[in-house]
Amino acid sequence: MKLEEFKAYKRLSISVVSADGCELLLADGRRVLDLYGGHCVNTLGAGDEELGETLQRQWKRLSFATNLLDHAPRIDFMHAFAPNLPEGEWQFFCSNSGAEANENALKLALSATKRSKVVYFKGAFHGRTAAAAAVSDTKLAAFPQAPFTAIKLPWGDIDAARAAIDATVGAVILEPIQSLAGVVEPTPGFLEALRAACDAVGALLIFDEVQTGNGRLGEPWASQHFGVIPDLFTTAKGAAAGLPIGLTVLTSDIAARVPGNLLGSTFGGGPLVLAAAAETARRIAAPGFLERVRATSSALVRASTRGPIQSVRGAGLLLGLVLEEGHSAAVVRDQLLAQGVLVGTSDDPRVLRLSPSLTLEPHQAARLEAALEALTVSA
Ligand SMILES: Cc1ncc(COP(=O)(O)O)c(C=O)c1O
Repeated sequence: MKLEEFKAYKRLSISVVSADGCELLLADGRRVLDLYGGHCVNTLGAGDEELGETLQRQWKRLSFATNLLDHAPRIDFMHAFAPNLPEGEWQFFCSNSGAEANENALKLALSATKRSKVVYFKGAFHGRTAAAAAVSDTKLAAFPQAPFTAIKLPWGDIDAARAAIDATVGAVILEPIQSLAGVVEPTPGFLEALRAACDAVGALLIFDEVQTGNGRLGEPWASQHFGVIPDLFTTAKGAAAGLPIGLTVLTSDIAARVPGNLLGSTFGGGPLVLAAAAETARRIAAPGFLERVRATSSALVRASTRGPIQSVRGAGLLLGLVLEEGHSAAVVRDQLLAQGVLVGTSDDPRVLRLSPSLTLEPHQAARLEAALEALTVSA
């Protein structure tokens, strides 16, 4: 017998043994400050004690239950999740990943509007499944076929959006800040213009908050950070602080326009993952949590005025470090890692990404500053 892993990932040359808070312990004994945060997953840092106790308690009490049965963690999750929501009446559906959450949002939007066209944007990333990939525009290999008509528009171009969003469009999907594209923010007025264009023709606005949600921008959701509320939004990654989850959140009005049996999932919304998601939502809402996110963000921005960094963009703890002309993000990432700091790259070869745990403390930014100062890269 022979078994190899399918070569989906180009791995870094290090291997991790354990993690503690915002630090990784590598197989070679080095401790690395993790400013990548498991790609926005580690909301509470590694090994969070309260989350560990919650999971242990829930595992012993009820480890899994079919969705045909009601259970206490589902009620508890709703109590914990509701106070963080933008204004409105909402319903949620729980799946297992960001792609699935987006797949479900698109399915709901097209079903509710009885239309078959979706608008998306240059640079977008919404996942690897058929519908999510059809509205993505990245360097990753595409899904062979699209399940609906997908119209790609330039990011931030209000006139192009107004012209394209007509009464044949069922949904407009976007990341409020495009992460993989290189942490690209919306231009001023862009989100408001999309909201107005959708309202004018009855199209539904979907925010993919897989990365921007769960407190990452210093508010529970990007819709609160930007002051624009979508009809549906999705999240995943950090919503259960390390357990696989996908959440599709829709207004009660839209829910009334679609059949309940449109969606379903075996694992989605199980007691263990909802116990984790409830604990995560409560911690995000706890006094001081989001204030610390904003303070740490400011500290990281200040620390990033060193070395070959030309500018910093993004918000909260989703930051893009734009390198000076001629520098390569992959080369700088490797050199920072050699200095004991892990950061991410992006589809933009000149942009590094920071998406650390939301429990990172402002003083820990000093390690990034020192690592940037010690860089020897030249353009
Ligand atoms: C904005 C965004 N949407 C969707 C996804 C897909 O999430 P998943 O990998 O959980 O399917 C990702 C993953 O990186 C993402 O960044």
